[in-house]
Amino acid sequence: WAMVEPEIRAIEALKREHDAVILAHNYMTPEVFHGVADIVGDSLALAREAQTVEASTIVLAGVHFMAETAKLLNPSKRVLLPDLRSGCSLAESITPADIAELRRQHPGVPVVTYVNTSAAVKAASDICCTSGNAVEIIESLGVDKVIMIPDQYLARNIAARTGVEVITHPGACEVHERFTPADIRQIRDDFPGVTVLAHPECPPPVVAEADYAGSTAQMQDFVVRNQPRRVALITECSMSDNVAADNPDVEFVRPCNLCPHMKRNTLAAIRRSLELGQHEITLDPALEAPARRAIERMLEVR
Ligand code: 13P
Ligand code: SF4
Repeated sequence: WAMVEPEIRAIEALKREHDAVILAHNYMTPEVFHGVADIVGDSLALAREAQTVEASTIVLAGVHFMAETAKLLNPSKRVLLPDLRSGCSLAESITPADIAELRRQHPGVPVVTYVNTSAAVKAASDICCTSGNAVEIIESLGVDKVIMIPDQYLARNIAARTGVEVITHPGACEVHERFTPADIRQIRDDFPGVTVLAHPECPPPVVAEADYAGSTAQMQDFVVRNQPRRVALITECSMSDNVAADNPDVEFVRPCNLCPHMKRNTLAAIRRSLELGQHEITLDPALEAPARRAIERMLEVR
């Protein structure tokens, strides 16, 4: 920690100088998460909190779609993403043309879009969801069939919990799709008594082997509330590091996969972002209103 302290102090000074706050996703490394972030959370919390920020600049320590969402909900603020290469395999898997084709094949079926998508894809959708509110969003529509894109696994995991039929798109998270049911069985053999929490972006057979599935914030809440003796968080690597810091009595088994996009948010990149005012997120004016409407419809439900 002593090694990163000068960088953390420099970032704190830059935040004051530029009237900036740092919104950080739960997958940030501990030095970002505990060192410089002002607000931390899952995708849903970051979207909600973006609306309450008073500072004129938001640095989004996360990935591109999160920065776009913050900008959509805060059009008058400057939103910076430290590294423009911070993409997401889910966001890259789908275009508005894919949604148009799905609508043509399934006329009248509402399109529920995971927030891990571009503003253009959100603009072509009826409503957004996150992994933390997908069940409530689907149920709020009062229909028996939805098009749920672009994460095929999230869609199937949520369908299993709602009884609503889902039409999917073949997208997947490059981090969570790599976990297998055999991994979970191995963890149970190696660490008797372990409680296994999986992110719903994992394939359904992995979720079936877990004790609980939820968003990153829901996994964290589970640990805080239940204080399991041993826990395995089947998700991105920094999650266990960050939750472990606040739960010293819980033993964390650490099978994990790194998200290369999230990991581009180093302290050095965040510092440069504040120093140079880069990379500023801008939106296509034609997409702004429809994309914002899909997010706001979601936030009205939960
Ligand atoms: P949540 O934090 O919303 O669960 O999302 C996980 C994720 O992979 C974000 O990119
Ligand atoms: Fe995208 Fe998966 Fe990385 Fe999240 S963890 S940003 S869903 S690739």
